[in-house]
Amino acid sequence: MRIVSPEISQGMSAMKDILTELEDRRNDARMGGGQKRIDAQHGRGKLTARERIELLLDEGSFEEFDMFVSHRCTDFGMENQKTAGDGVVTGWGTINGRMVYVFSQDFTVFGGSLSETHAQKICKIMDMAIQNGAPVIGINDSGGARIQEGVASLAGYAEVFQRNIMASGVVPQISVIMGPCAGGAVYSPAMTDFIFMVKDTSYMFVTGPDVVKTVTNEVVTAEELGGASTHTKKSSVADGAFENDVEALAEVRRLVDFLPLNNREKPPVRPFFDEPDRVETSLDTLIPDNPNTPYDMKELITKVADEGDFYEIQEDFAKNIITGFIRLEGQTVGVVANQPMVLAGCLDIDSSRKAARFVRFCDCFEIPILTLVDVPGFLPGTSQEYGGVIKHGAKLLFAYGEATVPKVTVITRKAYGGAYDVMASKHLRGDFNYAWPTAEIAVMGAKGATEIIHRADLGDAEKIAQHTQDYEDRFANPFVAAERGFIDEVIMPQSTRRRVSRAFASLRNKQLKNPWKKHDNIPL
Ligand code: HXC
Repeated sequence: MRIVSPEISQGMSAMKDILTELEDRRNDARMGGGQKRIDAQHGRGKLTARERIELLLDEGSFEEFDMFVSHRCTDFGMENQKTAGDGVVTGWGTINGRMVYVFSQDFTVFGGSLSETHAQKICKIMDMAIQNGAPVIGINDSGGARIQEGVASLAGYAEVFQRNIMASGVVPQISVIMGPCAGGAVYSPAMTDFIFMVKDTSYMFVTGPDVVKTVTNEVVTAEELGGASTHTKKSSVADGAFENDVEALAEVRRLVDFLPLNNREKPPVRPFFDEPDRVETSLDTLIPDNPNTPYDMKELITKVADEGDFYEIQEDFAKNIITGFIRLEGQTVGVVANQPMVLAGCLDIDSSRKAARFVRFCDCFEIPILTLVDVPGFLPGTSQEYGGVIKHGAKLLFAYGEATVPKVTVITRKAYGGAYDVMASKHLRGDFNYAWPTAEIAVMGAKGATEIIHRADLGDAEKIAQHTQDYEDRFANPFVAAERGFIDEVIMPQSTRRRVSRAFASLRNKQLKNPWKKHDNIPL
């Protein structure tokens, strides 16, 4: 039998007290603003900051930083109101085994408002993310600048902004808006790569409904002004809207699976269960007989993709162009595709901006780009010209032209005019430019062309019909372009998945560099 001396026994008891104190302190911090406020958060259909992190990350993978940080404000009696963690939970963990940094604002502590120390916590994990090469996921649920702290809080925001800018193109940054996000606070998410919102419980605006009423006399609700629907359908500030916190976090996990951790490594390769040379005979009849009849380009995307899995970005905005991620042979590919079902698939201001931003994201992070083309040209009209379609259309042209990632293009039907050039044509360093036999590559449609070059015959319907037919025979096909090598090969629609997969496989070691420059001057 061992005898424990009174000194050792005393030491063990002191140790136990210390451990208990740590656990007590941790439990206290985990309670945030207290049970009443947690209940109120749940009452609004929202999860707490910690519950969100638990759902976002792999089970048990979260490592927290700065759990005991508290604010240093002594104004307005704040010295007596301190909560461990100061309204934001920060740290890192994994999503399907891959590292991410995360911050999650805690609305139960001063409404998740951002103090100087709250900002320092966010900055710390952003600095680590940049240094260690892992994405940053920010969960926003905040009343904005901590009012009691004044300019110290504004300084904190600016420190976060600066890091958003430095991290851009280095590590993917994803913002999830799960509550209020107002005033200058919106500019941090705005500079990240993707913004997701939750329907009915989140909103973003620079000035709220009260200020709007005072200044412009407009009466508008917070939801109308800056809810998920507004930002995914009208403003395009947000990239996706989800029904609730649980769905939003699950979808962020799905997105992260497509992305590389940083700009120094390639996107992840996942196991795939789909033959790369799968033949899709149904694609041979996808294009309708009448060239003006629409068809759904998404059918082609899902039939090409591994297991038909397509992660769409900005699904509800500028639907005349489709953007999103698929995998081919387990490797991430960004897809940009004209959608003939909406505005005949033409390019306009919104679709050009949407696709340009997506192309640039892919290029930042070494994600190859598949472009599916059926474009009758740019949308005509005063609203487009006055809105600056020249400058906005140039964004997409510029984005494709500067991109050095593997680029594979398939023209399914129309590729008319400037839009032919823009949509990842051979001339913009397209690596593989394929066309289906149904492709029509021309300056414009046969009818429009005939009316211009045979204006003198306009009164003679028979002659015009003949001219139109002649033009169609000459140009409504892919072979004129193929004769010049602008199209590398005319392919069978049914073999698209195989051809495209092989093309990307052959480009895995592609090396292409743009000339040295400080940075380019894309037409903003
Ligand atoms: C300190 C804040 C706060 C803030 C909310 N709270 N916002 N504390 N600074 N900015 C506190 C409240 O006092 C309250 O504390 C708790 O958080 C919950 O707030 P409620 O008002 O009860 O909640 P709710 O009714 O849901 O309203 C949420 C809200 C509202 C819409 C966000 O709180 C609000 O309007 N807050 C102020 C928003 C704002 O003007 N922020 C500054 C924007 S300017 P108790 O103790 O009662 O629980 C800005 C500039 C950034 O952000 C510039 C960067 C460049």
